[in-house]
Amino acid sequence: MLDALALILALVHFAFPLAYYLYAKTMWLPRPWNLKMNENYKPHVTIILPTYNEAKIIRDRLDNIYGQEYSKEFMEVIVVDSASTDGTLEFIEKWAREHKDIKVRIMRESYRRGMVPAINYALRTIEPTGEIVVLTDADAWWPITAIKSIVKYFADDKVGAVTASIIYEEQDDDNTENMYRHYYNILRVSESKKHSTPVHNGPLIAFRKNLLYKIGLLPEYVGNDDSTPASVIAFMGYRAIQVDDVVVKEYVKENQFWRMVRRAQHLIVHFIKTKKYVKGKKYLYRHNKDFEMIWGIEWWLHVVNPWLLFTSLALFMTSCITFLSITSFAIIIVGILLLGSKVFRTWIFQQICLILAMVKNLKSINIVWSK
Ligand code: GDD
Ligand code: MN
Repeated sequence: MLDALALILALVHFAFPLAYYLYAKTMWLPRPWNLKMNENYKPHVTIILPTYNEAKIIRDRLDNIYGQEYSKEFMEVIVVDSASTDGTLEFIEKWAREHKDIKVRIMRESYRRGMVPAINYALRTIEPTGEIVVLTDADAWWPITAIKSIVKYFADDKVGAVTASIIYEEQDDDNTENMYRHYYNILRVSESKKHSTPVHNGPLIAFRKNLLYKIGLLPEYVGNDDSTPASVIAFMGYRAIQVDDVVVKEYVKENQFWRMVRRAQHLIVHFIKTKKYVKGKKYLYRHNKDFEMIWGIEWWLHVVNPWLLFTSLALFMTSCITFLSITSFAIIIVGILLLGSKVFRTWIFQQICLILAMVKNLKSINIVWSK
């Protein structure tokens, strides 16, 4: 009895995401974008880079932005620093003096309140010149055509937000992050072909500026500057997409595990807080069937599905220890052996991150994280 229940939970846990992935990949991914793109569309772009203690890497980041194949007259960079203590600000000021041909605006906060409030401070205090606002991180790397390729999607009025696909800088053969990315890039692009994806990437996310102001800037109830505003915009009926022709890099950090848990924490808050937009519950928003379905599935996958695995494992263990069930013992052994497979290991690792994130959220949602 216990074994049967545990087995059903485990089956649902694994089969549902697998079926969704295969469906999205075969039915949605091959579709055309259905957007009026224009390679010659050249809007004015404002790039906002928030920094806190990034002295070691800030020069490379600014050089990378400077090297973009996009006319400097159509570009503005705003760096917003929150009282860094390692000289980040001085590096930025020096860099700006050495690169007078690009417009750089430096903003300072007198104390640290977190990344999202810092970006909002910049957006609130100065109206960016551009039609497009691009947010990025200090530890990201863009190919030189990134901006050029991203803006062509905005030639279509239906597009509200565009994010790049992402890979992690390889450091070893067993790069769990890239495994995770490969699967998610395919899924996010597939969802975007259908309508929009509810999960976006911080290393490069572009917004149509007037929509950012329309939603009242970045929501501050969550620690991310990407998935939440993009989803609110998608709930309004605009497309918020991840594209596959721009692939940016992000560097893997030493304490990668806790960084993934923190991001999972932000995603959980994101899915809990954006629920109010489903079925047009918030008057401002149009009912949007396709995105609501995608959002609903991702909500399930992030918030509910990890617990099925957890419960199933708990039941198998109880059955094994209390009732000395051979079946559950065998299943647990099979599970342990499967950990030898990279795909399986990556998946389990993700589930652990999500569960830990939910538990940690009970204490604090990590708006200002240690760096
Ligand atoms: N001004 C300011 N103030 N900047 C900050 C602060 C702050 O309090 N905290 C972090 N930052 C800056 C960092 O310097 C970096 O440029 C960027 O915000 C992202 O922070 P990271 O520490 O690199 O975190 P991450 O890469 O894990 O964050 C990612 O996940 C978030 C979602 O959880 C990014 O991709 C974010 O864009 C994303 O929203
Ligand atoms: Mn980062």
